[in-house]
Amino acid sequence: MCNKVLPYFAAGTIVKGFGRGSKALGIPTANFSESVVNTLPDDLNTGIYYGWASLQKQIYKMVASIGWNPYYKNEKKSVEVHLLHKFQDDLYGEELKVIIAGYIRPEKDFSSEEELIKEIKNDIAIAEKRLDEPVTNKLKDHDFLIK
Ligand SMILES: Cc1cc2nc3c(=O)[nH]c(=O)nc-3n(C[C@H](O)[C@H](O)[C@H](O)COP(=O)(O)O)c2cc1C
Repeated sequence: MCNKVLPYFAAGTIVKGFGRGSKALGIPTANFSESVVNTLPDDLNTGIYYGWASLQKQIYKMVASIGWNPYYKNEKKSVEVHLLHKFQDDLYGEELKVIIAGYIRPEKDFSSEEELIKEIKNDIAIAEKRLDEPVTNKLKDHDFLIK
C-alpha cells in the first residue's frame, strides 16, 4: 500500500508538538513544521512508517507517525518522528531530514496509554529489523541525508 511514493524525502525544522511525547509516553517525538505537513503528497497515507533520519550530521533509524493521532483526537495533522537514540536535550529549532522508507500500519485508537506504548515498541522492533534489510539499509548512505 502507498508504496509508489516511497521512499519519500522530507526536510524541515523541528517544532514543539502537543507535549505528550516524552512526558506521558516516554517516547519523545520530533514534530515537523507545518511546511512539511502541508506539502505531503495526497497518496502518502496517514499511518506509521520507518526510515532514516539525519540530525546534526548524524544518521539515525527512525519511526514516524503521520496523521491525527486518533488516541488523542488531534485536530491538526502532524508528522512526528521518533529517533532510535536517546537524546538529553530538546531538539526544537534543529533541522531534521528524513527518508521515509516503508509503511508499518495504519494509525489506531487504543483503550489505554499502555496499549499505545506497547504498539509503538512493536513498531520500533519492526523498524529495527526492516532497516537492516539490504535495500532499505542502503538508503542511510543517500546524499540527501549527508549533504
Ligand atoms: C511509532 C509511533 C506510532 C504511533 N502510533 C500511534 C497510533 O497508532 N495512534 C495514535 O493515536 N498515536 C500514535 N502515535 C502518536 C503518539 O500518540 C504521539 O507521538 C504522542 O501523542 C506524542 O505527541 P506530542 O509529543 O505531539 O504530544 C504514534 C507515535 C509514534 C512515534
